[in-house]
Order: sequence, then structure tokens, then C-alpha cells
Amino acid sequence: MANINEKSVLDVLELLLTAEIYNNSGALTEDDLPPRIRKHYWDAKNNNVPRPIKVVDSDIKAILNFDDAHEIMSSLPFVNFDEFGSIFTLTVLDLGTKWFAKKDVKDRINNNPVLAYYYQNYGTFHVDYKEVKSRNPPKESDRAWVEALSKNVATEGGEEGVDMLKLVHVFAPEDVNQKIDDIVLTPEQEAEVEKIVKAIQYRDYLRKIGLREIGKLLFVGPPGTGKTSTARAMSARLGLPFLEVKLSMITSQYLGETSKNIDKVFELAKKMSPCILFIDEFDFVAKTRTSDEHAALKRAVNTLLKCIDDISLVNDGVLLIGATNHPKLLDSAAWRRFDEIVMFPLPDVEMREQIFKMVLEPIDGKFNTEELAAMTENYSGSDLRLVVREAVLNALTEDRTTLTQEDMVRAVRQFEERINLRLNDGQSS
Ligand SMILES: Nc1ncnc2c1ncn2[C@@H]1O[C@H](COP(=O)(O)OP(=O)(O)O)[C@@H](O)[C@H]1O
Ligand SMILES: [Mg+2]
Repeated sequence: MANINEKSVLDVLELLLTAEIYNNSGALTEDDLPPRIRKHYWDAKNNNVPRPIKVVDSDIKAILNFDDAHEIMSSLPFVNFDEFGSIFTLTVLDLGTKWFAKKDVKDRINNNPVLAYYYQNYGTFHVDYKEVKSRNPPKESDRAWVEALSKNVATEGGEEGVDMLKLVHVFAPEDVNQKIDDIVLTPEQEAEVEKIVKAIQYRDYLRKIGLREIGKLLFVGPPGTGKTSTARAMSARLGLPFLEVKLSMITSQYLGETSKNIDKVFELAKKMSPCILFIDEFDFVAKTRTSDEHAALKRAVNTLLKCIDDISLVNDGVLLIGATNHPKLLDSAAWRRFDEIVMFPLPDVEMREQIFKMVLEPIDGKFNTEELAAMTENYSGSDLRLVVREAVLNALTEDRTTLTQEDMVRAVRQFEERINLRLNDGQSS
């Protein structure tokens, strides 16, 4: 007994209590389960967590990585261990929850909506169940959820379903590495992100008052200004699956019935709802409208525009984000399909300094970021990252992992030619 610490006991007990309370309370859904428990019990076929949740040896091993659950729990009189099926149960739930409540478990309850639900009216705990739940990643964040849905589309849709999945990359929020904090945003961009967070939170209210013109964003700006990164970061920030479509893909040879496939992309988005549908290279629409490419492609583009009209954040739970590097190519028919145009300008001198500060933060050395920012007019956020990368790699060739301002200045200079070429290119076209 001496070598069994209380933390292990509480870990297992939390799991048992969560299972028991979840099993007994019809009001609780998958979104109330902490992700590590939810993922483990996920049933891919039905895409849910079926009740009752049973806790056996192997579950405890998989979720908590304990081999000796039996020993850990042997001191608790209210835990029953059925040797034969190796199922752990609570003989009396009340005894378990009372014992648990006497321990130092505030953090556990505040990070587990199932427990928060149970303890919200219990003794002196001041637990705000709604608040705890709002911080728990919803089921749509889990890879298991996203994978199961895509698989269903592929199997139900047969060959078409499979084709359609070639058109779109589907990411689970937990697999999106991009953090919103790693992108330096303009105040307008920040405000836009917050607006969407609220719109999603208050979707029911917006539906009730009939406000539907929200949730179609067009990100406009030169390459390397953070459009794709911001869209992805919103997936992580909002906990919404991310469906990424590249419009140039719709011309791919193997996609026979393109219009149908586009319909399917939107169908998939509705099935994955709530989710983000990200359409990159949106200017591709304009190109096909003006040039005389073959009729099938034009039909496809018209289908796309119609699909965009028909989808809604408030009604369907789909946040649509388009992105373009070439706003001049877009005609009014494309523009007016978006409620908000979010500009991604080249960073100004203050943003450049912020980006340098952020990227240089983990690197050893003393830097004058003000000077670097002043030197880098017309550099995009992506260029600035590349400059730092160059400086790091150059230093490594001399086996140095500490950088100097000189290293940075040299890397900026090396990059200048590229920036000038691009500027001249822009003027001539
Ligand atoms: N404002 C910014 N702050 C921080 N990093 C940026 C910013 N803009 C671009 N980057 C970085 O540059 C790279 C390319 O950005 P990306 O989002 O692909 O640009 P876009 O889609 O606009 O072409 C990414 O690594 C991104 O993090
Ligand atoms: Mg991009």
C-alpha cells in the first residue's frame, strides 16, 4: 500500500466516477467527456460513445497507463473488482463521490464536465458546469470523430465518395499545429476572429433572430501574409474540423464529374458540421469565368458559387473561408458571396518587429528588432520567417547556435534581391 500514491487512486477513481455518472445521466453527451476518455471509448461505426461505459483492466491501462489498477484500488471499499470479467464498478456511487470530494480534486472537477455536472450543486464546491463544459474540447476536435465521418462518406458514396475525398484534405483540430498566438494579426483580423468565436457560441440565438449573414469570410492579400495559417489556426482555436479544398484540384483528370464532386464537398461539410470549409486559391473561379475553358469546368464553377449561396454558418454550422492572392481577378459575382472581406496586408513596421520578436524569441542572441523591422519593408510574414531561417542555417555552418544582429542583417540583405524581383514583377503585370 505504501508505494501506491494517492494521485493514482484519484486518477482511476475519476475514470470510474466519470463512467458511472455518464451512464446514469441522460442529459450528458459525448461533448461532456474529457477527450482522453472519449477517444478511448469512441465507437467508429456509430460515431458515438455508447452507454454504458464499462471500465476494465485494459481500459485503465490504455487511458492511464497503469498495469496494477487492481492493487491501486484495493483499499477503497466502494470499488468492486469482478475478477472474472475484470470489470471495475462502484458499489455505491454516493460513497465514491463523497470520498472523492474530500480530496484535493478542485482542478479535476474544473476540467471534467461530467464531474462538474455532478458536483455543481454539491456542498461547498462552486462549480460552473457550463463554464467547465465550454472549455472542454468538443467531440469534433477528435481525430476519431473526423476519421469516422470521412470513412462513412467514402463507403456510402462508393467511388464518388472516394473521389470527393481526393478533393479535400480533412484535418482534425487536434492535428492542426498552427496556433493563433503564433500569428501576428492586425486589430481588424483579431476582431474578425473574435466575432466568429461569438457567432458560433451564439448560433442558436442568431438563428432565432433570423440573422444569417455571417460566417462567409474572404481572406485577401499577397502570398505569405498568413491567410492559410490563420484559417487553420481558427480550426484549432474553435475546435472545428478543417476541410481544405484547393480549387485548382477540381481540374484534375481523374475527377470525371466535377460538378457532382463539388456538391459532395459541401455535403461532406454539412455532415462534418460544425466545421470550417476552407477554399484556397479562390481566384481560380474568376480565371475560369473569363477564359474560354471548356464548358464542364464553367459548370463546375457555377455549381460552386451556388453551393456557397446555399450554405450557412447559422443553419448548417459550416464556417466558409475563401482565400485569394489576386483580388483583382475576382468579379462582383464572387465578392458578394462573402459577408466579410478580411484584408491581409504586408506587415507594417510594427507588425514586422512583432514578428521578428516572436520568431527570434527561442533563439540565443541579442537582436535589435527595431532595426530589422525598419530594413524589411515589403517583406511578408513568410519572408521574415525565411530570413530568420537563413540566419540560423548560416550560423550552423560555423557550428554556432548563438546568433548576432550581424547574422540577421546579412540574412535580410541576402533576401533583398528576391523582394526586388517580386516588386518589379508586380509592376509589369
Ligand atoms: N502575420 C504573420 N505573423 C506570423 N507569421 C506569419 C504571418 N504571416 C505569415 N506568416 C508565416 O508565413 C508562412 C506562410 O504563411 P501562409 O499562411 O501560408 O500565407 P498565405 O496563405 O497568406 O500565403 C507561415 O509559416 C506563417 O506562419
Ligand atoms: Mg495560402
